[in-house]
Amino acid sequence: MAKPTVLIVDDDKMTRHTLSVALEDDYKTYTATDGIDALKILKKKDIDLVLSDLDMPGLDGLKLLEKIGQMNKRVPLIVITGQGTIESAVQAMKSGAYDFVTKPVNLDRLTLLIEKALENKRLKEENVLLKKKIKESFPELKFIGHSAAIKKCEELAMQVASTKATVLIEGESGTGKELITNIIHYNSPVAHGPFIKINCSAFSEGVLESELFGHEKGAFTGAVATKKGRFELADQGTLFLDEVGEMPPSTQVKLLRFLQERTFERVGGTRTYKVDVRLISATNRDLAKLVKEGKFREDLYYRLRVVRIVMPPLRERKEDIDELVNNFIDKFSSLHGKPISGISKEAMGLIHAYNWPGNVRELMNCIESAVVMAKKDILDVEDIPEYLSNHTAESETGTGSRGLLQELERKAIIDTLKNTRGDKVKASRILGIGLRTLYRKIDKWRIES
Ligand SMILES: Nc1ncnc2c1ncn2[C@@H]1O[C@H](COP(=O)(O)OP(=O)(O)OP(=O)(O)O)[C@@H](O)[C@H]1O
Ligand SMILES: [Mg+2]
Repeated sequence: MAKPTVLIVDDDKMTRHTLSVALEDDYKTYTATDGIDALKILKKKDIDLVLSDLDMPGLDGLKLLEKIGQMNKRVPLIVITGQGTIESAVQAMKSGAYDFVTKPVNLDRLTLLIEKALENKRLKEENVLLKKKIKESFPELKFIGHSAAIKKCEELAMQVASTKATVLIEGESGTGKELITNIIHYNSPVAHGPFIKINCSAFSEGVLESELFGHEKGAFTGAVATKKGRFELADQGTLFLDEVGEMPPSTQVKLLRFLQERTFERVGGTRTYKVDVRLISATNRDLAKLVKEGKFREDLYYRLRVVRIVMPPLRERKEDIDELVNNFIDKFSSLHGKPISGISKEAMGLIHAYNWPGNVRELMNCIESAVVMAKKDILDVEDIPEYLSNHTAESETGTGSRGLLQELERKAIIDTLKNTRGDKVKASRILGIGLRTLYRKIDKWRIES
């Protein structure tokens, strides 16, 4: 590791020289004769620490300290002061100096102070970095996209965030239902309150009920202790019911009662609990249809959808793709430490041609995999997962990068092979091409039997 750099500022030549010689084994030293000289060096060089006299002509030590503060550099400054001027040293510390030493300088004490100051600086820098990292990675609140459809969702979310209204979020898998829920909670007045999530499809009927409402000891076999439910845990906060469409009828009744009266009992209990909880639910099922089919209570449906947000699928807002892709490239290149700076036109073309049944989640996974696999600093067609280019032909838009003619050829081969039930000899005769050519094309386009 390079030696830390120390700038020695003193108008006395002797002091400059002695300190410089004394410190040069462990540090790279620079010297300045006054504050103005020191500022020049600070601007040009990467200085880790300043040792400065207070009483100097031109710009004195206190002024220098002030200027360093304005430079927005976290460079610690240790004051060197003559005996009898302790008061001004104290003044300097009040203005932000790290510490002071008196002349004649005790070298051991000075080295100790320098080391402590440098360690302190390192910790502070690390702290800033960590804070930045935490902000970036948790919780996921970065909402990307400028299409009218997605902007509407975001606006609606921000609008309901400040209220206590019950919200229903509908949308296909991977469209950002949980992300928008996070946004609502963390922008709400209960942002510092509990934020409890439960996936209704992850539990069997009885278990779900006791997970939600809790149970008393002995309520059923296995209920060895009293347990609070998610509603109690979410008091003064937000409860997120994911996959609410999977909720069994008996639990639906209890949820409806909660929405009407804001009260419930634990399973096997008689005491009535009242909690103050904002409810957000999400589903990728068509709830209105489930209501028609008699699988979801109509009265509950209306109680859940006081405010309804419908997340649009990615294929209906392709104008957001570029922004999403670029953001994910940045995210994953820094996460995996790969210097990827962009994506080729052809690769982006492939991404646009695909119709993304898994929506943003699928796109995100695709870019992560591409970033991990990439050999160059620009993502290119060969980095994009294979299944993507194999499926673009079937997508509605079908404007893959291969060109229309090749797409037609590929389709003709697939259709013919289907008709001949995979008989390649027959297919090659029908298509009027040699058997070897057919094999080559099957291989090239990775057509599977
Ligand atoms: N507009 C967006 N901007 C940035 N990231 C997004 C956006 N939409 C979704 N994502 C990301 O895509 C992933 C999937 O989103 P999320 O989990 O919210 O989807 P979901 O609708 O809850 O899916 P599922 O129905 O499968 O549970 C998450 O990592 C999320 O951060
Ligand atoms: Mg989800």
